[in-house]
Amino acid sequence: MNHLVIRGAHLRQTLAGFTAAAIALFAFTGAQAEETHRRTLAEQFIQDAKDGKISPETGDGGVQELIVKRNIPISYEYINTLMTTPNAFGPGVACTVCHSSTDNSKSYRGLDLSTCKGIIEGSTEKPKRKLFVAGTDPKRDVLIRRLRNNRMPLGAGFHIPTNSPNIELVTKWIADGAKNDEHFNKNVLPLFSAANAFGPDTPACTACHMSNQEPPSFHELNLSTHAGVMLGADSVAKGVDKATKVVIPGKPELSFLWQHLAEDRMPPGISPGENRDHPNTTILSQWIKQGAKCN
Ligand code: HEC
Ligand code: HEC
Repeated sequence: MNHLVIRGAHLRQTLAGFTAAAIALFAFTGAQAEETHRRTLAEQFIQDAKDGKISPETGDGGVQELIVKRNIPISYEYINTLMTTPNAFGPGVACTVCHSSTDNSKSYRGLDLSTCKGIIEGSTEKPKRKLFVAGTDPKRDVLIRRLRNNRMPLGAGFHIPTNSPNIELVTKWIADGAKNDEHFNKNVLPLFSAANAFGPDTPACTACHMSNQEPPSFHELNLSTHAGVMLGADSVAKGVDKATKVVIPGKPELSFLWQHLAEDRMPPGISPGENRDHPNTTILSQWIKQGAKCN
């Protein structure tokens, strides 16, 4: 099933060749290709290539340009192949090795990714939850964020517990309203500036998130003050009002700060350097946006 894990470079080459051929073809038939009938996908592709509107050489195998933009229907059959195939979303064993039944003695989180019904039902172990809302953008929902979001500190291993006392402290602080009080300044804030606070041999959060300037601070996120934590990410690029909030007071589960501390990227052990926007993750998102249809 190696052909599924299309190497970007290979497809890019193929597409580059295809583009050249398509443009040549257009030059030949272009005069007749008037807009008197609804364009087929191929005709639209040729037109867009000629107009310089598309650049399939984007490193994602043309997924964005040729599949997402044209809303090509994604079949459940393809999604099933992704779930059952090694390396489908980046190096690692197939999802269904660990998530193949609703019996939580055989499958982590009682999550069955081997059937369409199981994917839609989500995790059946407590806390039971759906992984997305069919027909909506799933970027921030459980399934896609488990494929895209790296656990922090960047590179924190799968073996590091996600319920350590320090993670619990942060969780409780968010749950209690994320206040700028003595407890926060004495017990919570210093954790972000300490090495090894969230796992052995891990750098301090502030080694990478120390100010609103990127570089050096990733996502313009400043975890060294209460104001910085509450302001969130990308406040310079997006503007203060539109900055990405990483803490939602009272709601740890919805807070990106909590998600990035307590949720491992799947498949377990995948390196944070692996593409977070893997073409197949985009395809999975697209299937969900199209309504997560089972046939
Ligand atoms: C080697 C075993 C293993 C493989 C392979 C694996 N997972 Fe997981 N997965 C786990 C474990 C263990 C957990 C629970 C611990 C945790 O939350 O990190 C989990 C949790 C999850 C969750 C969270 C569910 C919830 O209710 O919070 C999702 C979603 C998920 N995995 C999806 C996937 C996908 C998609 C793949 C394939 C890319 C995959 N997993 C591959 C072991 C695995
Ligand atoms: C070695 C550098 C590094 C360290 C250390 C680090 N981060 Fe990050 N962080 C990143 C990078 C890079 C990203 C963006 C890409 C990604 O998610 O992989 C990021 C993203 C984030 C985001 C998401 C921001 C958004 O816009 O959604 C949060 C939240 C976050 N980090 C919190 C933390 C916390 C909390 C710690 C400490 C436990 C920490 N980081 C440690 C590099 C780091």
